[in-house]
Amino acid sequence: MQAFWVTLILPLVSAVTVVPIPLSPGDAPSVNGNLVSLSIEQDRWLDWSGNTTRNTFFFNTLDNLVAITGDDPTIRIGADSEDHTNFNPNIQFVQAAFPPPTTTVSYPEATSVVAGPGFYQGAKFLPPGTGVTWGVNFGGKNLTAVFLETQAIVNAFASEAMQDAGITLDFLELGNEADLYKNNGLRASTYNVAQYTTEWITFATNMSLTAKLAGSDTRIWGAAFAESSHTTTGFSPQGIFANNILTSAPGKFINTISQHHYSGSFCAGNAGLLQDLMTKATIRSNLSAYIPDIQATQDKGLDYVFGETNSYACQGAPTVSNTAGAALWTLDYALFGSQIGISRLFFHEGIGYKYNLIQPETLTMSTLDGHVLNPPLQPHVQPQYYAAIIIAEAIGDSGNTQALEFNINDARISGYGFYESGSLKRAVFINSLAFLSGTTTRPSTHLNLTFSGSGTKPTSFSLKRLVIGHATDGSGLTYGGQTYETSNARVGGTLTTETGTVSVGIDIPATQAILVSFN
Ligand SMILES: *[C@@H]1O[C@H](CO)[C@@H](O)[C@H](O)[C@H]1NC(C)=O
Ligand SMILES: *[C@@H]1O[C@H](CO)[C@@H](O)[C@H](O)[C@H]1NC(C)=O
Ligand SMILES: *[C@@H]1O[C@H](CO)[C@@H](O)[C@H](O)[C@H]1NC(C)=O
Ligand SMILES: *[C@@H]1O[C@H](CO)[C@@H](O)[C@H](O)[C@H]1NC(C)=O
Ligand SMILES: *[C@@H]1O[C@H](CO)[C@@H](O)[C@H](O)[C@H]1NC(C)=O
Repeated sequence: MQAFWVTLILPLVSAVTVVPIPLSPGDAPSVNGNLVSLSIEQDRWLDWSGNTTRNTFFFNTLDNLVAITGDDPTIRIGADSEDHTNFNPNIQFVQAAFPPPTTTVSYPEATSVVAGPGFYQGAKFLPPGTGVTWGVNFGGKNLTAVFLETQAIVNAFASEAMQDAGITLDFLELGNEADLYKNNGLRASTYNVAQYTTEWITFATNMSLTAKLAGSDTRIWGAAFAESSHTTTGFSPQGIFANNILTSAPGKFINTISQHHYSGSFCAGNAGLLQDLMTKATIRSNLSAYIPDIQATQDKGLDYVFGETNSYACQGAPTVSNTAGAALWTLDYALFGSQIGISRLFFHEGIGYKYNLIQPETLTMSTLDGHVLNPPLQPHVQPQYYAAIIIAEAIGDSGNTQALEFNINDARISGYGFYESGSLKRAVFINSLAFLSGTTTRPSTHLNLTFSGSGTKPTSFSLKRLVIGHATDGSGLTYGGQTYETSNARVGGTLTTETGTVSVGIDIPATQAILVSFN
């Protein structure tokens, strides 16, 4: 007699969460296809771009995003080493001096960078149409250095190669995190925002005249501070506005305010730290602190960006910043940022940093503890890169997508809708409960989709899942069954999508994100 087994496949559902979805976006913010952009530590800039030939791995990582959104990449080159850079016309590419690695920082920033013309010309290897922000040394307080660097940057962008590719110098930035100069020896310990503004105006006058900004489309990023006092008396956008930076001759070229933010500074990671990073409430409290600064900026009619950001200082905390959990953090952080008026977030990257989206070069030392790698690690993407891909797909190529956070009453579930011409097209959901190894049951949440407002209620959808083993995984993610962890950064594997019915809803396990496309 034949035996029959009836297998019931029951999802392990621990909770039902109602997702209220407005059918129209109202005045929700428009989102740029390059909402997730990159900030590159400039000491090893040529390792990203290539010096005599293009670094195709890095090019492909950006080109993948362009292919999805049709929007040009925007990239900032600068940061800490920006204030340690000088120009020498007799050097072809660059000469940089690096301190020895430590166990917490495997790939320290250069203490001195001497750039030649080829350093700036490396930008010609970026995808056509890329818009660049380049940082100029203000820390050195040396007018000649500002003058020579500005000239070299402008000359590079005027070259035929750059013009033909439509690669543009969109912004100059004068000085990185000048609010920290009083701590790092670049200024007196009493350095304040009033002194900063006066000095900045002097140096930026030379920079703007040298770059002939009056006759060009290049503008200036203002502020670029590490922290914010959120007051008119300390380092903050409000502080430089109160000191009349905007009405100064060079200040008239500031059309964007940039601020920097990290969620904290923890040099040794742990699982609790990863859950903190991923948690919906801490993401919101980290970003909401900037609402007064954003408001003050928008009141002046200026754009607002996070010109440098990432998870934790020390180039990332090991087993936290380099993980799949950090990819979910990136998704929620960037999308929530869009909701409070941050038009782009430049995720900071350096060769070998733990919190990179992309490792564009062969690494001979571990990013986590500096031990020698044998064999070396080939160029590869890290988990956060999937967040850039998912956000790109969510925004799409309409050129006019609005994003709206759904008001989901669940501490672990975030969701955002994406609307084109006022109609709901897609949604992203994130389950930020960290699923850690050693835990046997993986909780799952059932999303009950409810609709309100005017518009056509969708009845069905297709979806792609960002599938993650454990929150601490540093690799092995798949998105729609595919991988970007390939030797050339092009997507590999066969696309698999699921289909579903709106009335049935969606299950989302702990530590997963999904992109839903409504029909
Ligand atoms: C150009 O880059 C390659 C690869 O990073 C490096 O090996 C080479 O030394 C660089 N050349 C110069 C002249 O800096
Ligand atoms: C900028 O400063 C440099 C160095 O002092 C000087 O040679 C140059 O003439 C200045 N440019 C302008 C426009 O003031
Ligand atoms: C200022 O910068 C120029 C050009 O980089 C350099 O030659 C000069 O030595 C610098 N001056 C000081 C005081 O560092
Ligand atoms: C920012 O997030 C971290 C977790 O990543 C948290 O520890 C910290 O308290 C948050 N800061 C604020 C101001 O909310
Ligand atoms: C989920 O949605 C269905 C209708 O689609 C509704 O009948 C049910 O009450 C909802 N469950 C919860 C917990 O809200």
